[in-house]
Amino acid sequence: MKAMLVVFVLLSRSPIFAQDTRGLNFNITGPVVSESGKTDTSLQNEVKELTCPFNLCAALLKEQGATEEKLKATETRLVLLETSLQELMTRLAISEGQIEQLKIVNRDKPKVAFSAAVGGHGYTGPFDTNTTLVYKNVFINIGGAYNRATGIFAAPVKGVYYFSIFYHSGVQYATTLSMYRNGQLAATTHHDKGAGVQENGGVGLTLLLERGEHVYIMLWANTRIWDGVNINTVFTGFLVNEL
Ligand SMILES: *[C@@H]1O[C@H](CO)[C@@H](O)[C@H](O)[C@H]1NC(C)=O
Repeated sequence: MKAMLVVFVLLSRSPIFAQDTRGLNFNITGPVVSESGKTDTSLQNEVKELTCPFNLCAALLKEQGATEEKLKATETRLVLLETSLQELMTRLAISEGQIEQLKIVNRDKPKVAFSAAVGGHGYTGPFDTNTTLVYKNVFINIGGAYNRATGIFAAPVKGVYYFSIFYHSGVQYATTLSMYRNGQLAATTHHDKGAGVQENGGVGLTLLLERGEHVYIMLWANTRIWDGVNINTVFTGFLVNEL
C-alpha cells in the first residue's frame, strides 16, 4: 500500500499526469484488481480505509494546487524564453543583413592599383626639356586610372593614394625624377653626374587627391634613366581609402 501511495503522489506531482491523477483520486474507491486479474480483498480494504480521509484529501489537493502553480510559473518562464529567443533571432537577422550590406559596400568599393615600368632595354633621355616619363610596360592597371599612352594617372575618386617611383641609371648624366600632382612638384629623387658606375633612387608619397587630379613623373631636362629586362625604373600607385 505504501508503494501505491508513493506512486500516486509521484503521479500527482508530474504535470503530465495531473489530469489523470485527478481522475484516479475519485476512482480509487472502486474494486482494486491485482496484476493477476483477481480482486485483492485485503488491498481493497486497505484502500477503502485510506481512500479519502479528509486530511489526506486536503493535503493532496494542496499538493496539486502547488503543482499547478509551478506549472504556471514554468509556462510564464517559457513565454519569456520564447520572447528572448525571438529577439535574438531578430538581432541575428539584422546582423546578417549588416554583413550582406558590408559585402555589397566592399564589392562596390573602387579598386584602383597600377604598376608599370618604362620598358624596353636601355636609356630614356637625355631630352632638352622636362619630359613626362611614360611607363609603357604595364603589370597591372586595376580600375584603368593609369594611362600608358601619356604616363598620367587620373584619380577616379577622392581618396588617399600611395605612389612610389624607383629608378636605375648610369652616372655619365645626372638623373632627376619628380612626381607631379596637377602641375605642382610633389617629390623628387636625384643623383648627380659622377665618376661611379650606376645609381639607384626612389621616393614614395601618400597623397590626398580630389577626383580627377593627375599624378605623373617628370624626367628633368638633360637627365636620363635606364630600364631593362630586370625592371629597374617603375611607377606604382594605389588607392588606400576612398574619402
Ligand atoms: C624642370 O622642372 C623643374 C621643377 O619644376 C624646374 O625647376 C626646371 O627649371 C625645369 N627645367 C626645364 C628645362 O624646364
